[in-house]
Amino acid sequence: MRNKLIVANWKLNGNIELISNYLDFLKFNLPNNLKDNTIVIVPPFVYLERMSHVVNKMNIFLGAQNVDINLKGAFTGEISVLMLKEIGVKYVIIGHSERRSFHNETNNYIAKKFLLVKNYNLIPILCIGETEQEKRKNQTQKVLKEQLDCIFKTLGELAFRNTVIAYEPIWAIGTGISADPKYVQNIHQFIRNYIEKHDVLSKNITIQYGGSVNSLNIKDFIIQPDIDGFLVGNASLNVQEFLKIIAMCISYFTNE
Ligand code: 13P
Repeated sequence: MRNKLIVANWKLNGNIELISNYLDFLKFNLPNNLKDNTIVIVPPFVYLERMSHVVNKMNIFLGAQNVDINLKGAFTGEISVLMLKEIGVKYVIIGHSERRSFHNETNNYIAKKFLLVKNYNLIPILCIGETEQEKRKNQTQKVLKEQLDCIFKTLGELAFRNTVIAYEPIWAIGTGISADPKYVQNIHQFIRNYIEKHDVLSKNITIQYGGSVNSLNIKDFIIQPDIDGFLVGNASLNVQEFLKIIAMCISYFTNE
């Protein structure tokens, strides 16, 4: 069975008060037995260490929203994979569409980060997805292939072992309107088959969906056979809402 991953991507949100209330609530309400579900919280960098002291006593992992391609040196404003490792971060989001578009991150640049994260035994969560215009022009598969091919070119055929992919159609992010679950299922199947063509053992890779997921619409996604979890933005900022999402995942994914 594939590992199910539920990730809270806080983006540029949160503060010390929110973190304290959030973790207190989770401490008392997170189910003891998460079954095969893994929970990851990805706050802004400055809060990672503070949170690491609390979550390491809980069943929760920490992720980073970004990482630099350099390990150390004169790179003002950057964060190294070594620093993330030192404070117990386990996952790193790579290639989020907000970084691709607001920070001009290219497929090649993202592949370098992916390589570095893997080399240091952290788990990259590679975000891929098409724009609305690309979808309209029927270019979704072409775009996804390009995003994946660049990783294969840099890391070789076994690139996706022990990694996670998050399919996030850009037009569904932050809009409140999620993609159609059957559409997402088809895309996930396409991604899985494409990766499997290169490396049969990668067919069990975890492929998450992200884009306006919440506790009201998640049910229709959970039941799709190739959706292995969620990368949740806005809805993950509210701890009660995030807990509802977790509870629904535990209850469905466990009965598969
Ligand atoms: P929203 O859930 O706010 O649409 O964000 C999705 C996302 O970008 C998660 O990385």
